[in-house]
Amino acid sequence: GKGQYRHFMQKEIYEQPAVVGDTLHTFFNPLARSIQLPDFPFDLANISRLTIVGCGTASLAGMVAKYWLEQEARQLVEVDIASEFRYREAPLPDNGVSLFISQSGETIDTLAALRYAKEQGQKIISVVNVPESTIARESDMVLPTLAGPEIGVASTKAFTTQLTVLACLAIGIGRAKGTISPEREAELSSALTEIPSRITEILNTDEIIRKIAADVSEARDVLYLGRGNLYPMAMEGALKLKEISYIHAEGYAAGEMKHGPIALIDENVPVIACAPSGPMMEKTISNLQEVHARGGQIILFSDEEGVARAGDIAKHSVVLPRVDPFVAPILYALPIQLLAYHTAVLKGTDVDQPRNLAKSVTVE
Ligand code: F6R
Repeated sequence: GKGQYRHFMQKEIYEQPAVVGDTLHTFFNPLARSIQLPDFPFDLANISRLTIVGCGTASLAGMVAKYWLEQEARQLVEVDIASEFRYREAPLPDNGVSLFISQSGETIDTLAALRYAKEQGQKIISVVNVPESTIARESDMVLPTLAGPEIGVASTKAFTTQLTVLACLAIGIGRAKGTISPEREAELSSALTEIPSRITEILNTDEIIRKIAADVSEARDVLYLGRGNLYPMAMEGALKLKEISYIHAEGYAAGEMKHGPIALIDENVPVIACAPSGPMMEKTISNLQEVHARGGQIILFSDEEGVARAGDIAKHSVVLPRVDPFVAPILYALPIQLLAYHTAVLKGTDVDQPRNLAKSVTVE
């Protein structure tokens, strides 16, 4: 049941400190401060290219993983959505590995993409939440997410546990390839270990986010911006808003603003930026200044330093913990989920069963 919560989605958001912690502990040795992956049926140091495929939120987890794998493991990665990949007849490289991400493990496009990759001689890894699912059964190797049953149609805890598994995989591949030093691995390990308690901290901003949702619920269009590994999170933020609050939202790389979407900006368009402090924030600040100059309402998700840096160009800010940029996507998932949730509740939509959507898409 929903227990003390009003919706399954809300309950599942609040379960994240526990399920992310459980998932982390399957790969993480707190004593050795290192990631311990199970044995793979191929050499992790010698993957010519990793092809990551999924649908919707699962594909966005894959996009975050691309940033991690490229930066920390110098691994060549391609990410695609399953409905395109399955029909594209893309050539796949020798010694390639294909990775499929799916909560249900039954999504038809993802399964068809898996079968195509297998026929092309790729080794198959899957990150699934349902261990007895078809996608799990047809994989050479399964990395399970321990999210437990997800009832709400919108993916929340499945997504953050997918990210957790993928972060561990990126570190594992980096170690196998020798691109991650023991010092860096210890650093990343402690950043990962802190995630559950950081998530709990962010859940305490619930009330602030609910107030921001009052503004967002009035909007017809919303723009979500991010850079680097938070660019896929901007897309995830937009997807969540669309699916449960029915507000039109777009996720954009902040640097793409001036190549089109800036034309949309006026005082009626909230612009939500996922922008932790750091060298890249300066770039995002100048994008936000352009939004501000056109009367756009800025909502900033950042850390204390970033919020101070943005000053009064932001109408609303949510202060998140300052963390190693590697783990930021996992934490920024939280305000994204809470904002979509509260906006939907204020609009009176069916949060757990949004119109036209099914939890598991087993037909094309
Ligand atoms: C978004 C959402 C969908 C799913 C997608 C894939 O909140 O829930 O975009 O992520 O349908 O489903 P699975 O992961 O079951 O393959």
